[in-house]
Amino acid sequence: MSLLPKLLSLALLAIYVQATPASSSYGRRGAGHSGGGKVASTWWTNWHASDFPVSALSWEKYTRVTFAFAETTPDVHSLNLSANLTAGLGESLLTELVAAGHQHGVQVAVSIGGWTGSRWYSSNVATPENRTAFVKTVVGLATTYDLDGLDFDWEYPGNQGIGCNVISPNDTSNFLSFLQELRSDPVGAKLVLSAATSIVPFYNSSGKPSTDVSAFSKVLDFIEVMNYDVWGSWSTGVGPNSPLNDTCAPTLDQQGSAVSALKAWTSAGMPAHQLVLGVAAYGHSFRVNHSQALDANGQLTAYPAFNASDQPVGDKWDDPAAVDECGAKQGPGGQFTFWGMMDAGFLTPTGHPAEGIDYRYDTCSQTPYVYNTTSDVMISFDNARSFAEKGRFIDWASLGGFAMWEAGGDRDDILLDAIRAGGKY
Ligand SMILES: *[C@@H]1O[C@H](CO)[C@@H](O)[C@H](O)[C@H]1NC(C)=O
Ligand SMILES: *[C@@H]1O[C@H](CO)[C@@H](O)[C@H](O)[C@H]1NC(C)=O
Ligand SMILES: *[C@@H]1O[C@H](CO)[C@@H](O)[C@H](O)[C@H]1NC(C)=O
Ligand SMILES: *[C@@H]1O[C@H](CO)[C@@H](O)[C@H](O)[C@H]1NC(C)=O
Ligand SMILES: *[C@@H]1O[C@H](CO)[C@@H](O)[C@H](O)[C@H]1NC(C)=O
Ligand SMILES: *[C@@H]1O[C@H](CO)[C@@H](O)[C@H](O)[C@H]1NC(C)=O
Ligand SMILES: *[C@@H]1O[C@H](CO)[C@@H](O)[C@H](O)[C@H]1NC(C)=O
Ligand SMILES: *[C@@H]1O[C@H](CO)[C@@H](O)[C@H](O)[C@H]1NC(C)=O
Ligand SMILES: *[C@@H]1O[C@H](CO)[C@@H](O)[C@H](O)[C@H]1NC(C)=O
Repeated sequence: MSLLPKLLSLALLAIYVQATPASSSYGRRGAGHSGGGKVASTWWTNWHASDFPVSALSWEKYTRVTFAFAETTPDVHSLNLSANLTAGLGESLLTELVAAGHQHGVQVAVSIGGWTGSRWYSSNVATPENRTAFVKTVVGLATTYDLDGLDFDWEYPGNQGIGCNVISPNDTSNFLSFLQELRSDPVGAKLVLSAATSIVPFYNSSGKPSTDVSAFSKVLDFIEVMNYDVWGSWSTGVGPNSPLNDTCAPTLDQQGSAVSALKAWTSAGMPAHQLVLGVAAYGHSFRVNHSQALDANGQLTAYPAFNASDQPVGDKWDDPAAVDECGAKQGPGGQFTFWGMMDAGFLTPTGHPAEGIDYRYDTCSQTPYVYNTTSDVMISFDNARSFAEKGRFIDWASLGGFAMWEAGGDRDDILLDAIRAGGKY
């Protein structure tokens, strides 16, 4: 991403940004806002289209739907819309998604990157020449598919993600230069631009969270803070997948939350109203024996140890044990969607703990847990109560809205309705 011929001076750009409501500075179709002006967004995954087709989306409850993913490739001139799909399928699904979205007056964006698709972000923005080429590539994508926005899901600038990404200490500054050049493009100037981020600001050239990201707030409409996978199979105990708060947790268990992310990003100069909270329609499972899971009164314990060599398999959408894009062997992911927890018998069809399933709700992180004492499977997840709390937090902290991973993880809009009600959409 690059610094380049600027059609707008930075000063003009700043005036333009200030003169219009912040998260709608650039976009068409109301910049993805509806009731209350907040973003109600979700990612729709092309590889789950056969289970959750475009027609299954509750369009009227969203302001924007983001297609996942266009993966980066070693060639700065091309993006891959059909990674792990039949060639051409991603392209036709995107066409279908855009048509349906526009019929409903909802913005459609494409997310570029993702966990497996960020391998060549760094090289695509590494030099002025590559940034110019990459601007052309993403503008071409937006033009070809009549997109309203682009979402940059680089996991992560200056910080290794899956394990074999190209990375450079200059990633964050190159990313900024790229976004600035994209904004100076007449098409790029009109797009709603967002970035899906970690709970801490983009890493600087010392490999530490940047202390000043204010320049990003001038070129992005908003960031979606991926406040999930905070705890998982890599952790030392069973903790919240998507904690709302952690300052109230025991010191060693303060590993980040929506509260900490808000503090970290706003302290670095990202205004709260440009922070969209990433929320999860899934949970992580762990194998926990009775002596760890239950206290003397038979109640579920907090942060119990789990057996890392015995990862439960999640639902139908879980990543199976496989060799990943980097050639590394991975166990099963152990993820359960909200509906997957219903189908597996942890939750009733209304999303409540099923008969015979132990339940705990942690009021610090606002996280529900379930435990099956026969299979020893414990899951940290989100339900209607925790989504409603997140909605209230978004409203209270005047955040920009929410973005749910992923649309098809919910069932009967139980989670979606809860966060919308909590956030007064
Ligand atoms: C997209 O990714 C898939 C799977 O990795 C691969 O088979 C295909 O060749 C890629 N297509 C392009 C255009 O890079
Ligand atoms: C398909 O690709 C996406 C990223 O584009 C990845 O997250 C997902 O796990 C992949 N699914 C399978 C079944 O390989
Ligand atoms: C620029 O992009 C090309 C491919 O499109 C790549 O081969 C090259 O390594 C990139 N430059 C840098 C410095 O990463
Ligand atoms: C990072 O950018 C600086 C300044 O532009 C440059 O001197 C340096 O070579 C770059 N480092 C890498 C690893 O690309
Ligand atoms: C990177 O940020 C850290 C704080 O997170 C700061 O101490 C360090 O000086 C910064 N490095 C650069 C090169 O700006
Ligand atoms: C987070 O926890 C701290 C410490 O208990 C508390 O003061 C604060 O109000 C909590 N914030 C939210 C949004 O719950
Ligand atoms: C229960 O699990 C813990 C941690 O995984 C382990 O240290 C302990 O030996 C286990 N106890 C039994 C009875 O299996
Ligand atoms: C953890 O699971 C493995 C695989 O099932 C088993 O062999 C081992 O005994 C378990 N460890 C504990 C402490 O229960
Ligand atoms: C708990 O797990 C056992 C063993 O997998 C299974 O047979 C049972 O149906 C589960 N219980 C509930 C209430 O889902």
